[in-house]
Amino acid sequence: MTRDRAIEVRDLHKAYGPVEAVRGISFGVDRGEVYGLLGPNGAGKTTTVEILEGYRERTGGTVSVLGFDPEERPRALRERVGIVLQQTGIYRHIAVREALVHFAAMYPRPRDPDELIALVGLEGKEDARAKTLSGGQLRRLDLALALVGDPELVFLDEPTTGFDPAARRTAWETVRSLRALGKTVLLTTHYLEEAQALADRVAIVKGGRIVVEGAPRDLGVGASTRVRVTYRNALGEQVEHITDDPTRLLHELTAEAIERGEALDDLAVNRPTLEEVYLELTADA
Ligand SMILES: Nc1ncnc2c1ncn2[C@@H]1O[C@H](COP(=O)(O)OP(=O)(O)O)[C@@H](O)[C@H]1O
Ligand SMILES: [Mg+2]
Repeated sequence: MTRDRAIEVRDLHKAYGPVEAVRGISFGVDRGEVYGLLGPNGAGKTTTVEILEGYRERTGGTVSVLGFDPEERPRALRERVGIVLQQTGIYRHIAVREALVHFAAMYPRPRDPDELIALVGLEGKEDARAKTLSGGQLRRLDLALALVGDPELVFLDEPTTGFDPAARRTAWETVRSLRALGKTVLLTTHYLEEAQALADRVAIVKGGRIVVEGAPRDLGVGASTRVRVTYRNALGEQVEHITDDPTRLLHELTAEAIERGEALDDLAVNRPTLEEVYLELTADA
């Protein structure tokens, strides 16, 4: 390993019987980085993070998390990692503050439960039982529980699925505050805006493979060589062409228009946005 990385994954494979959920995934996450695995349902995101968390055994490849192999479930690793699973698993009758105090006792240097309650925006819910919380509030409790051991590495699997916009903003602020504290975060999401808003680097996952990786601002232009040319024809209709060779296309379009004595109204040449790249890369063939 050439760098001091929090996570290093090489050629990871995972098969569930005949289902190849992960088919050769490689990536690295630097310490202090927020890294996003972005992709549609079934892409293999949860399988990948659960292998890194030590909850699933891999079929092939090498994995290092804070220098450990998570498959051996070393205690020294578990104490330094915080986990928000895709499915919440909290005991329904426990109250918010009680749960945090309970789990805090298991860690050598826990965070203060009341600070965590404020951090995730659950003030006023300290004594509420888990079963009375809304889906979004439960998810915030999951997040607080993941942070109770003051982990240096946090796994967040679809942390805001089912959140209303206000709760999502709160969760985003929490992730940003983790980043500001120098924590490493690996998050999965199927929300493009979430990856864009939070991640230093994003890997777009599809069919068990990473199809593109980079900083969000670079993916839109860098991940696609394609360019979109649009204009309004003589009938006033909007026309769109997608091309790898805009020079030639524009030459042909403009030459034809001049020959016909027409103009190409509203002629525009655009790079695809990250959203367009994402949709293109994750579309079913
Ligand atoms: N325990 C399991 N047994 C069998 N197949 C599974 C299991 N967990 C996930 N899969 C399959 O593996 C693929 C990837 O799933 P998952 O990792 O949950 O994707 P994502 O989190 O990106 O939605 C899917 O086809 C899913 O049906
Ligand atoms: Mg998942």
